[in-house]
Amino acid sequence: MKKNKIFIACDTKNISKVKEIIKQTQNSELQIGYKFGLEFLNSKKGRHFILKLKNKITFGDYKFADIPNTCASAIKSVSDLNFDYITIHISSGFEALKAAKKVSGKTKLIGVTILTSLDNRSVKEIGFNKSVKKIIFQQAKLANKAKLDAIVCSPVEVNLVKKVFKKEVITPGVRLSSKVDDQKRVLTPKQAYENGSDWIVIGRPITKGNIKKNLQTLIDHLN
Ligand code: C5P
Repeated sequence: MKKNKIFIACDTKNISKVKEIIKQTQNSELQIGYKFGLEFLNSKKGRHFILKLKNKITFGDYKFADIPNTCASAIKSVSDLNFDYITIHISSGFEALKAAKKVSGKTKLIGVTILTSLDNRSVKEIGFNKSVKKIIFQQAKLANKAKLDAIVCSPVEVNLVKKVFKKEVITPGVRLSSKVDDQKRVLTPKQAYENGSDWIVIGRPITKGNIKKNLQTLIDHLN
């Protein structure tokens, strides 16, 4: 049977903690990748750790958002880290997405839509006059046009995104309980897969507390 795929968000700057997360999440029931975000990637030892990390599926969650030249240069400057996946905000615009895709090589380029910590009220506050769903639908079309390899959205929008984007859809905003932290658009892991997520991203519900026990709770929830 095909294994469910999960990126564990290693949101820390503590190398020992990352090693512990990797050690405690080894298992045969799930396909696991490791996501490194802004906290880890900007830490003193983060870059060196990634350089040495072998035989793991890796995701550099840089969330680049800049003009085309800067996005492309930044992607080139992290190419030695050989990430399997890296992210760029789709709101950087079509030209930046195209420029980024041109230089991303073997690394899959993921377009980030509206963050899962935002809801309709928050996007209005930023200055958008459309709903989250409408913006994401438009962003998914743009990602398709720019030939991106994957999209990040919440599990709530997977069906919508898949109408116009046929490659991988990756979803943070996943919770097993009502403790949603700062996330706003949230579903359970099971619902996320049922909706068609190719990968879910999960951080604090796994990495805080007893990692092994938390992962087992997730596996039990999926079975
Ligand atoms: O701890 P939690 O499960 O909320 O972690 C989710 C991870 O996914 C974090 O590392 C966060 O930066 C990332 N992410 C997100 N929403 C997005 C894109 C990335 O939560 N839209």
